Amino acid sequence: MAQFRLPPNSRVRQGKVHKAPAGASNIRRFVVYRYDPASGRNPALDTFEVDMDSCGPMVLDALLKIKNEIDSTLTFRRSCREGICGSCAMNIDGVNTLACTQAIEDIDGDVRIYPLPHMPVVKDLVPDLTNFYAQYASIKPWLQTRTPAPPDRERLQSKAEQELIDTPSACILCACCSTSCPSYWWNSDRYLGPAALLAAYRWLVDTRDEATGERLDELEDPFRLYRCHTIMNCTNACPKDLNPARAIAEIKQMLAMRRL
Ligand code: SF4
Ligand code: SF4
Ligand code: FES
Repeated sequence: MAQFRLPPNSRVRQGKVHKAPAGASNIRRFVVYRYDPASGRNPALDTFEVDMDSCGPMVLDALLKIKNEIDSTLTFRRSCREGICGSCAMNIDGVNTLACTQAIEDIDGDVRIYPLPHMPVVKDLVPDLTNFYAQYASIKPWLQTRTPAPPDRERLQSKAEQELIDTPSACILCACCSTSCPSYWWNSDRYLGPAALLAAYRWLVDTRDEATGERLDELEDPFRLYRCHTIMNCTNACPKDLNPARAIAEIKQMLAMRRL
């Protein structure tokens, strides 16, 4: 196997190379971003040769094997292992996706693994999502009502009304979309990004919610909403096949309609 090389002026160092155990014949190589801000050292790319005969099929399986058997200091988030919690989002082979649903066999050559791009790094593959979660909280992701609920039943919806919120409710807040959005890279302090805007849309189309006007007022802002330039990276990146770009376009349309 050819040795992986960094560009000559890269600030990322060439890290350690962990060779496969003697006798292993089915080897895949994982090139993994390592960074510990507390160390004061530049990031490094470590190379791990993994024996695939004793490894599961997904990238998360390889990361767990590396952590359990080769380097216990490797740091990443994961929980459900089945594409539900959103915590294992990272950049794999140049694409933001979930490590637990990304099959290793679908990647050619070295498997290159970085944290989600353009976010501060807490350690290794763990991005700091503080701002991302604050933006989600800022859209008030809960039902807001003024009229009292019927005394004898819940606030009911028709099947068609429920279907409006069904798909956007499937968002797992993995941040793959927002961290693939160039507008979010440059303006994440003021632009809400596709994940938070998809969540805003989910409450705007909820027929039980009675704060639609206030929600739209909050979004009518040159940065919070209108930094979306319909580049579509977000929709391409979503591992749950959601369409935040379309939701953003529909919010813009709602705002345009109420100006008429
Ligand atoms: S469509 Fe909008 S939110 Fe999606 S990537 Fe493009 S600019 Fe970002
Ligand atoms: S819209 Fe898709 S990519 Fe974005 S946070 Fe939700 S699940 Fe993740
Ligand atoms: S571990 Fe939950 S989505 Fe991957």
